[in-house]
Amino acid sequence: MNFKEMIAKDLAAVLGEQLSYEDILNLIEKPKASDHGDYSFPVFSLSKIQRKAPNMIAEELSKDIDTTNYEQIIPMGGYINFFLKKSEVSNAVLNDLVSKKNHYGDSTLGQGKNVVIDMSSPNIAKPMSMGHLRSTVIGNSLAELADKVGYTPVKINHVGDWGTQFGKLIVAYKKWGDEAKVKENPISELLALYVHFHEEAEKYPELDDQAREWFKKLEDGDAEAIELWTWFREESLKEFQKVYDMLGIEFDSYNGEAFYNDKMQPVIDSLLEKELLVSDDGADIVNLEKYDLNPALIRKSDGATLYITRDLAAAMYRKENYDFDESIYVVGNEQSIHFKQLKAVLKEMGYEWSDDIKHIPFGLITSNGKKLSTRKGNVILLEEVLNEAINATQNIINEKNPTLENKEEVAHQVGVGAVVFHDLKNDRLNNFDFNLDHIIQFEGETGPYVQYTRSRCESILRKADWSAPTSEVNYSLSDDESWEVVKALYNFPAKVQEAYRKYEPSVVAKYVIDLAQKFNKYYSKTKILEDNSQKDARLALVYSVSVVLKEGLRLLGIQSPDNM
Ligand code: ARG
Repeated sequence: MNFKEMIAKDLAAVLGEQLSYEDILNLIEKPKASDHGDYSFPVFSLSKIQRKAPNMIAEELSKDIDTTNYEQIIPMGGYINFFLKKSEVSNAVLNDLVSKKNHYGDSTLGQGKNVVIDMSSPNIAKPMSMGHLRSTVIGNSLAELADKVGYTPVKINHVGDWGTQFGKLIVAYKKWGDEAKVKENPISELLALYVHFHEEAEKYPELDDQAREWFKKLEDGDAEAIELWTWFREESLKEFQKVYDMLGIEFDSYNGEAFYNDKMQPVIDSLLEKELLVSDDGADIVNLEKYDLNPALIRKSDGATLYITRDLAAAMYRKENYDFDESIYVVGNEQSIHFKQLKAVLKEMGYEWSDDIKHIPFGLITSNGKKLSTRKGNVILLEEVLNEAINATQNIINEKNPTLENKEEVAHQVGVGAVVFHDLKNDRLNNFDFNLDHIIQFEGETGPYVQYTRSRCESILRKADWSAPTSEVNYSLSDDESWEVVKALYNFPAKVQEAYRKYEPSVVAKYVIDLAQKFNKYYSKTKILEDNSQKDARLALVYSVSVVLKEGLRLLGIQSPDNM
């Protein structure tokens, strides 16, 4: 049931050699205004070939096309507008949906293929910020989308648990730290130490040297360094886990940077063997001039490895252990040079699969127009934001639906869902401002609006005591409002594929908003529960909208309460 292909075939039958089937397919558009039909074919490119005015071509051509598949074919200016058969299409779409339920839109594009998703990856001893929220929720949604289109996703949390910052932290702790205080309030205390280190290091640059020494000790397995590091790491992971639990997100692996500490030597050996490593002032670098990139610094003059050294080891480990078809990194835009260098070094090493490594960047979240940064200490704590969203939602529910049964659970689903939806509805690369009051509203382009629309569907179905039949029923609808909804439902599978292909969850977020709006328009104009011959088809439509909204939200990592 691909209408574009159907129209292209019918056009090809009358156009003969003038245009290829592919060209015809690419030319077919979806008109914005519904009175211009469901699909439309511009004839301008034929005008040159036929040396005739476009409106004349459209007029003549529309008479020749086989009308079997259409309600109407109408020429309009330089376009031929196709109107589908509403009753037939609605019957087919709704039956398809009612039988497939939440599997509607599944596909086998990625069958037998693994996709590794590097996501979330916060840094130990720092709070998980709003910035990491983006990576977490985008990565999670991409994993759901990958799964829906047939891939096997592997979600990896590449925690930042190694690097010179641990040298800084150890120095700071040993100088100014207080064990009792850290135990009581680990993350904020560690953050305070880290911030204090940076303030002091501006005045006393020798602190940076000490930090480098301590990190070197850590890399060499010094007992005191390891003990402090382990402690900082465990406390931090406990805090991160709280946020993941609130979001309902799980990982397949928490192998972070430290995991690769003993896996970097083979990388360095291989770089040496391939004569790619060049000594530069005592440090080891890979020249990337031919990629128009700065050299990749692999090993510092004191022998310490770097972020990219660990990423090289990680990439190779992942290829070996997960045999990935694609390996994607959901990391902020500011690291795009790093990932270009990573790919380039792997390419230089002769690994064809470096082409399958993809950086999926995203924009910044600002707060009242200001950038967030941990170093300066002006962070928004993610856990606090989620809790605030839950509380604010609870207030709205108390006002709108005070007798709701499982208020707390619903407030959690809606509050957290609001934050996640707001993040995902924006094009991945856009920067956006975070304003809690706006995102939790039940109206507007928000997560709660979509959830509320779906709970409305469920309430209609409960009232009607309707459940999905097991055999085919006639679900023909032909009015204009239901037609808009049916067409949106028909588009869902293509939208899912597009969202995955573009690594862009916002495609699904925008889609569910659109479907919810079209449904609400239908709902306001139609007496769904009125007893007449259409009632069953109308309820099947309501059911289908509910299924697709729930599935769409699930793909974004958002739950759907039946009642709110
Ligand atoms: N920990 C890093 C940060 O917060 C992100 C790590 C991304 N993943 C990777 N394999 N480099 O900036």
